Amino acid sequence: MIWGERELYRLNNFLGERFERIQTIIDSEYGNINSYINLIGSANYAFPSVLKALDTPFNLNPLEGSRGKRYFPMSRNIDELNNLGEELLNELFKTQNYYANFEPYSGTQANHIVYQAILSNDDKVLAMSPRSGGHVSHSLYLKQHYNLLEYDITSNEEIDYDVIYKICLLERPKLLIAGYSSYPRAVDYAILGNICKKTGTLLLADISHTAIYIMADTHISPFEHADFVTFTTHKTTRGIRGGIVMCKKKFTNDINRAIFPIEQGAPKFNEVLAKLIMLYELKEIDINEYVNTIMKISQKFVEIFVSYGIKIYTSGTDTHLILIDLRNEEITGQQCESLLCQEHILVNRNQLPNDKRNAFDASGIRLGVLTLATINMSCNDYSSVAEIIAQTVVKKQIVDNSTAIEIMKRYNIVN
Ligand SMILES: Cc1ncc(COP(=O)(O)O)c(C=O)c1O
Repeated sequence: MIWGERELYRLNNFLGERFERIQTIIDSEYGNINSYINLIGSANYAFPSVLKALDTPFNLNPLEGSRGKRYFPMSRNIDELNNLGEELLNELFKTQNYYANFEPYSGTQANHIVYQAILSNDDKVLAMSPRSGGHVSHSLYLKQHYNLLEYDITSNEEIDYDVIYKICLLERPKLLIAGYSSYPRAVDYAILGNICKKTGTLLLADISHTAIYIMADTHISPFEHADFVTFTTHKTTRGIRGGIVMCKKKFTNDINRAIFPIEQGAPKFNEVLAKLIMLYELKEIDINEYVNTIMKISQKFVEIFVSYGIKIYTSGTDTHLILIDLRNEEITGQQCESLLCQEHILVNRNQLPNDKRNAFDASGIRLGVLTLATINMSCNDYSSVAEIIAQTVVKKQIVDNSTAIEIMKRYNIVN
């Protein structure tokens, strides 16, 4: 098991006069990593072995094309890597029926690959609006190139599956997108799969924030229900920053054509390698224990916030994500983010439904507890962090600018 070890990463320095200015920046970044509690919703600490895989000569290979159909010689090792990855991923998600491609550079690109693969100009797409929690890659690009319809959460801050069904019946979108960025609740992919079957809609499950819960069977799996599954590798699964796209095997050629030559030229094979190392690490760790730890911490945060009278979007969470609701408060998300940053706690502002503030100010604070679970932070320590956040939100001022730094001294991240 990796988390709980006292040294996660080794320093990698660039010494000598010619690197002096760069080394100053590196030193500052290492200092930040070691002294800030990082609760950015999408942040986590990658497995150290995953970062090691980035530093390999696999990066030197500029092969274009798709597995088995490359435009360059000597692609056997690279294609073998992809085959192995597909096997491992299907195993972790307990399915056998999905093609997996490890080449998308990011989660946004993985989604664009799906759009390129199946959508034509006037096609309709139904996705959750960003203010309710949808990711921007389910929004702006689709609005520009296709016909985007949006669904929102109800006044009870829940997904209304009947409304989604009615829109699908009436509008017949080609694609429905589910899986969110700032809606912290589990999604019922079985219901959505059924809606899509009845209305002839294709389903894209973006499980960027929920992959680990699906592996642990604590959230309903999109596999067998969704035609496409995309996710970022750097959040719950502790990989590098990057994306993976999966699809039912009948869409394999469509996905491959969208990747090359439309969305990218040569993939970054050291990143593909790093994604495979991530899968091996996930096979090794106790995923259920990791998920239990995440949920224990996020529920404690919610409990502490509620005890201070703080309003939480959707009244709680089924994940590592928590959204503090400042819609009726005299403080903006941006001001709160800035106060917490001065206390060495990183979170980010986020708009909420019917937000009267613009995206820069915003009325929500989004935070996630993945990093705390990864370093196995003690209950005492993470409860103190939650207390500092709660008091800062309530008092609207800096309440403590030393505790977070002291706590981080106990969890050496870069050494
Ligand atoms: C649900 C979801 N999809 C896609 C993305 C985009 O990922 P990337 O930043 O790798 O483009 C994110 C980012 O956090 C996300 O939350």
